[in-house]
Amino acid sequence: YATRNTAIPDDEKGYKLDLFCVPKHYEEDLDQVIIPHGLIMDRTERLARDIVRDMGGHHIVALCVLKGGYTFFADLLDYIKALNQNSDKSVPLTVDFIRLKSYCNDQSTNIVKVIGGDELSTLTGKNVLIVEDIVETGRTMETLLSLLSECNPKMVKVVSLLVKRTPRSSGYRPDYIGFEVPDSFLVGYALDYNEYFRDLSHICILNENAKEKYKV
Ligand code: IMP
Ligand code: MG
Repeated sequence: YATRNTAIPDDEKGYKLDLFCVPKHYEEDLDQVIIPHGLIMDRTERLARDIVRDMGGHHIVALCVLKGGYTFFADLLDYIKALNQNSDKSVPLTVDFIRLKSYCNDQSTNIVKVIGGDELSTLTGKNVLIVEDIVETGRTMETLLSLLSECNPKMVKVVSLLVKRTPRSSGYRPDYIGFEVPDSFLVGYALDYNEYFRDLSHICILNENAKEKYKV
């Protein structure tokens, strides 16, 4: 027999929307809930434990990739903080934010723009944990990693809540992965479609009508 792992299969049927609480204004835009909020939280708690085990020897700078990473970042850090304040060993944890933009409608563009954040040079000598919402082609992360390597951090690890199974992938894999997901456009838990759906707790598949409706 096979138990479930973190790879959500392509034929995953998901949960009916009316089993969970979904904002009224999005009901017609979504077909199903693919990862309920509670499951995201449970998986995040375990990722926090794995990260502290591997990185907890030295000052950690958690670098949030905005905007899509902010919910996962906040929840992951809460779990890391809980570990830090309840054990005999602990390390300082500081935060930084960077904004990268590569998407228009549901298409990744080739250009990755970096907007905002502290000078990356503040990361020199630190253990840097990059926190991202989803890796698709891998281009965003590869760009950020090459920028970071110029300022000589002591260690760099990447945690992404989601990794998409797609032929467009460059082959890049983050160090820590929450779930591997089918090649559909996902929204919710801060993942957006043209800025909509960040105000949805569960991760859901966007339907074709909605892609038209919120197109820019
Ligand atoms: P990559 O550079 O192709 O790996 O794309 C990564 C970025 O594209 C992520 O940080 C997201 O912002 C965005 N992205 C990719 N797939 C999705 C999706 O299914 N929903 C929402 N955003 C996505
Ligand atoms: Mg992102």
